[in-house]
Amino acid sequence: MISSFYCSRIGIDLGTANTLVYVDGRGVAVKEPSLVTVRASTGEIEAAGSEAEAGAGRTPKKFRTVRPIRHGMFCDLTACEGMLTRFFRQARTDRTFRRLRVAMAIPGELTEVERLAIVESLQTVGARDVLLVDQVLAAAQGAGLPIDEPRGRMVVDVGAGVTDIAVISMANTVQTRTVAVAGDEMDAAVAAYVRGKHQLLVGERTAERIKIHVGSALPVSEALSVNVKGRCLVQGIPREVALCDCEIREALSAPIHQIIMGIREVLEQAPPELSADLVDTGILLTGGSALLRNLDRRIGEEFGLPVKVAQDPLSSVILGLAHQLKRLRSRDWRRFGHSS
Ligand SMILES: Nc1ncnc2c1ncn2[C@@H]1O[C@H](COP(=O)(O)OP(=O)(O)OP(=O)(O)O)[C@@H](O)[C@H]1O
Ligand SMILES: [Mg+2]
Repeated sequence: MISSFYCSRIGIDLGTANTLVYVDGRGVAVKEPSLVTVRASTGEIEAAGSEAEAGAGRTPKKFRTVRPIRHGMFCDLTACEGMLTRFFRQARTDRTFRRLRVAMAIPGELTEVERLAIVESLQTVGARDVLLVDQVLAAAQGAGLPIDEPRGRMVVDVGAGVTDIAVISMANTVQTRTVAVAGDEMDAAVAAYVRGKHQLLVGERTAERIKIHVGSALPVSEALSVNVKGRCLVQGIPREVALCDCEIREALSAPIHQIIMGIREVLEQAPPELSADLVDTGILLTGGSALLRNLDRRIGEEFGLPVKVAQDPLSSVILGLAHQLKRLRSRDWRRFGHSS
């Protein structure tokens, strides 16, 4: 039997926009954007995380800024492994080699092939034992829900690449659905709106900034506006326009509708006893996009259920993984995990 003394246990929330790494006994050691800068000629990783973000959209031609994850799944395996290697190095304090045990949160609807790809990648970057944990369960636990109770609860994690929706009871997901619409699609909708209505071309990061500054799902109490610079499609030169909250609300209506349709589907398929519980327990929103103004109210009005946003929605998943790491014993890794 391998004593836990010889093991480093870490939890990873590898998100489309942000990656967080928790080290047991130390706390959250990495909180970085999921980005890498790659040297175009060799594919070598030059920078990862905030270092890569600083140059995003402005790197010279010999470098590319890559987002290795799209819609919650690896889309550039080499870049993803390079990024993880750097983050692991950043997270580990022990100089001697210890058996690395990694618990990673994943969206509910990944296929067996996708799960295997994740396990193999983690093993490639040094993990000996890998445990895949359902993202919504981790989010619920991290937000402080008593997930072990035999009571239906709904959790909706609205991240950047995916919205993970589940009805949970007794520490299990009973009904689940992953919708490939979240913060990134909102940004794309904002960029498309600004291009269509104002003939202004804006990049991904500017679109995200507009969404965060003035975006909302229902009218806000005080009018909001933001000045945005981009390239004019008509004259081809840089220009500035002012945008208000009502315009961005209109732009965001389509992605928000798709998220609501996903929630409706899960609600309609949930077993009746658990549905009845939801009248009281309501819906918990986690993930960074849960911070969109009035998204909770919009969902609450749609379904007539109480909706609450987690206290720290960007950290719910990693806090849940931290709980799980503390509870796992050595034999659990062998029982549930994929060991090499
Ligand atoms: N105040 C805010 N208002 C609206 N959206 C926000 C706000 N703050 C962050 N976001 C959005 O939250 C998203 C990032 O959230 P999060 O870190 O939970 O996603 P992720 O875990 O990386 O993605 P995923 O789980 O989908 O793979 C981004 O799309 C970001 O624009
Ligand atoms: Mg996430």
